[in-house]
Amino acid sequence: MEKLTGLKKIKTAIFISGTGSNLNNIIKFSKQKKSPISIDLIVSNTLDAKGLKYAEQFHIKKKIFNFKNDEKKILLSLKKEKIKFICLAGFMKILSKEFIKKFNKKIINIHPSLLPKYKGLNTHSRAIKNKDKLTGCTVHYVTASLDSGKIILQKKVKIAAKDNLTSLAKKVLTLEHKLYPAAIMKIFN
Ligand code: GAR
Repeated sequence: MEKLTGLKKIKTAIFISGTGSNLNNIIKFSKQKKSPISIDLIVSNTLDAKGLKYAEQFHIKKKIFNFKNDEKKILLSLKKEKIKFICLAGFMKILSKEFIKKFNKKIINIHPSLLPKYKGLNTHSRAIKNKDKLTGCTVHYVTASLDSGKIILQKKVKIAAKDNLTSLAKKVLTLEHKLYPAAIMKIFN
């Protein structure tokens, strides 16, 4: 991955679909001097994404697209904003092969499991159902194959006997907020 030169931060877009707690966390991280990235665009596939409020709060441009037919428009937007790097943060759509190719090794994702375990949806309920003792989260490169790109960083947490879906999701999310900035630092330093 390209090294940081001088003081210029790498223009980054964050793609979301929902609450945006990772988005909020990455924006705050990006404002620190040590951050290699700046957040210049927020992209959502739905107007209902609560995380869109952070665009207003932090004065960041936002775009809403229907991802099925809009990839050309999205690419144009990214070009216009000179976006060089993309972080998926709770983004629930699958990007096309062609799109991923255009941003080869420049798209990363956070996934709420210890990949390669539990690719796809409902990771926490699967971990609980299987009586797993450990779970966690993974930041990885995005490739055409779902949740299968090279792992950048992973963090583990214990599943307590009393944990339920809500408590486990909360526990993992707290971990995600540490992992995502650490993974970004690892890539660029
Ligand atoms: C996070 O737990 C993230 O790992 C997960 O959605 C949540 C989004 O939370 N992502 C996926 O499941 C992707 N397949 P947030 O909107 O509060 O950041």
